[in-house]
Amino acid sequence: VIAMTELDLTAKRVLIREDLNVPMKAGVIRSDARLQAALPTIQQALKQGAAVLVCSHLGRPVEGEFNEELSLAPVAAWLSDKLGQAVPLLRDYLDGVDVAPGQVVLLENVRFNIGEKKNADALAQRYAALCDVFVMDAFGTAHRAEGSTHGVAKFAAMAAAGPLLAAELDALGQALDMPARPMAAIVAGSKVSTKLDVLTSLSGLCDQLIVGGGIANTFLAAAGYPVGKSLCEHELLDTARAIAAKVSVPLPTDVVVAEVTGPIEDFMAFVQAATPVVKLVADVGANDMILDVGPQTAAHFAELLKAANTILWNGPVGVFEVDAFGEGTRTLSLAIAESSAFSIAGGGDTLAAIDKYDVAERVSYISTGGGAFLEFVEGKELPAVAALKAAAAK
Ligand code: 3PG
Repeated sequence: VIAMTELDLTAKRVLIREDLNVPMKAGVIRSDARLQAALPTIQQALKQGAAVLVCSHLGRPVEGEFNEELSLAPVAAWLSDKLGQAVPLLRDYLDGVDVAPGQVVLLENVRFNIGEKKNADALAQRYAALCDVFVMDAFGTAHRAEGSTHGVAKFAAMAAAGPLLAAELDALGQALDMPARPMAAIVAGSKVSTKLDVLTSLSGLCDQLIVGGGIANTFLAAAGYPVGKSLCEHELLDTARAIAAKVSVPLPTDVVVAEVTGPIEDFMAFVQAATPVVKLVADVGANDMILDVGPQTAAHFAELLKAANTILWNGPVGVFEVDAFGEGTRTLSLAIAESSAFSIAGGGDTLAAIDKYDVAERVSYISTGGGAFLEFVEGKELPAVAALKAAAAK
């Protein structure tokens, strides 16, 4: 693919697709990690002499309708502040935009446009007509073939990869193509079914596959341990066994449980009120719900991580939002931070854990991708990257 940094952008109109899909509540940005990651690309394009148009989606609006709650207005304010210049938010931009070299404009949520999700050519052509160069930099949305991530690359005079997208692909490539061994992966989360492709792909690649959360419960049940009232996919026990036959899956030896005494209406309220009890995995009772790995297990997993030269981390191993069930995730976060391995982390919950335990500075690479990160690890070609390759071959 062509890299943005290789191009002469002097006085060029450059349309940059970023993933500015940040968690937002009542107009307040809850985490600016994706904005921080995109900022250097915008600054770089300005430095190269461009007139910059930035676009992104936010959330999943109904197309063809403006929706105040999913407006990028707070992002425009954030960008204006960080860039030290006004970044106007444009609502009507499909017929053309006035922007001079050195200026930046933000185009309103692309998913308000009819045809964005469906990757309609008619819309993609209008995006392409806005610019001399299209830069795809939204790694977090590179797994979506939509008008502003895929279609536009077909019609733009020139289509290039932005520095953030390039850095993401490099870091993931380094972790997955020829990993320094031993390689340990942590795949945690509620369900084996939603992470099955990731587990399968990593079982052929890493040396230790550490599982956590509901996924670990399914592996424990597959090994014959009681899991009581824990989240567990009993229909996937054979699948778990097949994975464990391919790669070393170290199972928890102790866990932190809470007793379930009645129906749970609000899961987080239940966890907040629960009393943590450490048990050996063989002693998990019929009313117990596993909510974290135990201290012995956390220490063992930490040793495995310290011995690794490559670490890939997706998912917290317990309900870390509540401190009583966060020790496992905290211990593993610190082990990753202390390790000299090349470590890469991705996924929304993982980023929240990295924030909570303040280890961001000591993880080698933190991906801005959630779904895109997982699809890359699954070995799938990301459609937006394929579109850039096709454009470069033209
Ligand atoms: C994400 O947050 O994973 C990306 O921004 C993609 O969003 P989507 O799942 O709504 O396409």
